[in-house]
Amino acid sequence: MLDLIIRGATLQDGRAPVDIGIAGERIVAVEPRLAAEAEQKIDAAGRLVCPPFIDSHLHLDTTLSLGLSGPNQSGTLLEGIALWGELKPSLTQAGIYERAKKLCLWSIARGTLVIRSHVDISDDRLLAVDALLALREEMKPYLDIQLVAFPQDGYIRYPKSPENLARALDKGVDVVGGIPHFERTMEDGAASVKQLMRIAADRGLLVDMHCDESDDPLSRHIENLVAETIRHGLHGRVAGSHLTSMHSMDNYYVSKLIPLIAEAQVSAIANPLINITLQGRHDTYPKRRGMTRVKELMAAGVNVSFGHDCVMDPWYPLGSHDMLEVANMALHVGQMTGVEEIKSCFDAVTVNAAKTLNLNDYGIAPGKAADLIVLQAADPIEAIRLRAERLFVIRRGKILAEASPRETLVRFGRQERHVDFTKASLDLA
Ligand code: FE2
Repeated sequence: MLDLIIRGATLQDGRAPVDIGIAGERIVAVEPRLAAEAEQKIDAAGRLVCPPFIDSHLHLDTTLSLGLSGPNQSGTLLEGIALWGELKPSLTQAGIYERAKKLCLWSIARGTLVIRSHVDISDDRLLAVDALLALREEMKPYLDIQLVAFPQDGYIRYPKSPENLARALDKGVDVVGGIPHFERTMEDGAASVKQLMRIAADRGLLVDMHCDESDDPLSRHIENLVAETIRHGLHGRVAGSHLTSMHSMDNYYVSKLIPLIAEAQVSAIANPLINITLQGRHDTYPKRRGMTRVKELMAAGVNVSFGHDCVMDPWYPLGSHDMLEVANMALHVGQMTGVEEIKSCFDAVTVNAAKTLNLNDYGIAPGKAADLIVLQAADPIEAIRLRAERLFVIRRGKILAEASPRETLVRFGRQERHVDFTKASLDLA
């Protein structure tokens, strides 16, 4: 007798219908017409069942702080950093913790059960580090949090960053971060990358740097990040976040750069919701979109994942931590409307993100953790199109969240029709 069986699932790769058997915290069978009984059953009725969404780039310490500072009038990254800097002295550990915890509730409801969050280490009190380390522990039954030591005010530009970053890593922060484009000069940016990569190599840690989040086509710190990755043999363990300057770079230079990124197996993380709004603010018309070259990176075999980056903070006043909204925005900004391209945007918030985070217990297969979601959609394309309801969110074999299917009753002449916008409803009509 199993604990849970989900029958009639369509998987992300198109296999259907399959049944998923769960015993305790593990998936034990994935096969058509599974001959077993279970305590609890879910009829997926042909809907998409996939592993949980992963947000590969978020700032849990700034999330839901909208209104604590003044509004970001220019809408730029730099005004956001300045507003956050003004707010820093008044932040409390309890306040950061409570806001981040509220965000985690939203994440669970949205089926996002893994978050890589940057945590600002430029505050000498390391309040955010302590708050998010405590939250990482408390959330373990519900979702996994990976923390990145992020020197928001610059690793070289803010003199106490090296000491603070070391303290944060000693306390248990998982990943080495950086922000080379915010250093005072290109040389300082390059030096910061060198120093941070040495730390990661010495400590055996993963790396995820905010890199070239700029419209300046000459912001080329990704080149140093790649070179240092190869020098230290950290292939597959390093990510470049944002990489927006690549949008503005000369095509000839990019033709050299992308193969280098692929060679170093550096993952690229695009944050489409944020960069479509922050970048291009100095342009009149035409306005640059400001997202990195997702389509071209993927075509070259680079692992690309997407992040939400911000939810209601000095950089972005919107959002509800929905990774399907992120994927939806990415495919619009990147003009990725081909069938395989839309599917690859779904991969970018699931399997590709698992690769970015170096997760190995992820996916729907026997032996893997029983973490999965049932969506009100037939396939990944419909899920993105409708930003589909997450009907069941399951973590380690337990149902963490459930929602009723979304539909609207339309009175249509003498008829009453239920509209849910799915392809299945068109077939029935
Ligand atoms: Fe960020």
